[in-house]
Amino acid sequence: MYKNIFLLVFIFLIYVVPVYAQSEKDVMANHHMMMNDTINDKRISLNLPPPMKVHQLENMRSHVEAVQAIIGLIAEQNFNKASEIAHTKLGLTEEMKKMCSMFKNEGFRTLGFQFHKSADELAEVLKTKDMTKSLQSLHKTMSYCVQCHATFRQ
Ligand code: HEC
Repeated sequence: MYKNIFLLVFIFLIYVVPVYAQSEKDVMANHHMMMNDTINDKRISLNLPPPMKVHQLENMRSHVEAVQAIIGLIAEQNFNKASEIAHTKLGLTEEMKKMCSMFKNEGFRTLGFQFHKSADELAEVLKTKDMTKSLQSLHKTMSYCVQCHATFRQ
């Protein structure tokens, strides 16, 4: 009888305690992450001050809106309007130039400029009204969105 109890306690110590300790650690890690309000992954942080963070996310939301509008306009074969949006909302306008120049990280700046230039190229391709070429060009522009998001965080 005592032997059995001893065995049960032994099993408890070996299996249950480490599992509990592990989950306790995870909870602490999550808590820590939430308190810091940052995503702790392998991406490079731009260390942006809070007002710039808000501004960048606003800008990004307008990017995704522009892409959605462009896809809809391509489907409607309204290439001229799609071209105008690509140029004014995603292209390398004076406003975008200024904004991109504000970032300290050189790799980020370079990627930002390449992205905006590719959107100006997209605007030109859209003017040809060639559906396949337009989609290929949009695909190229969006690969910059993907590449930058995989590399950098706020
Ligand atoms: C040169 C870098 C770069 C490029 C290019 C870029 N982004 Fe971003 N984007 C960021 C960063 C940095 C964040 C913040 C991510 C983080 O901190 O987790 C972000 C965040 C976002 C968000 C989240 C917005 C929010 O309110 O939370 C959206 C949506 C987004 N980007 C859309 C796009 C789209 C669509 C494109 C391309 C058409 C694009 N971005 C191109 C760097 C970039």
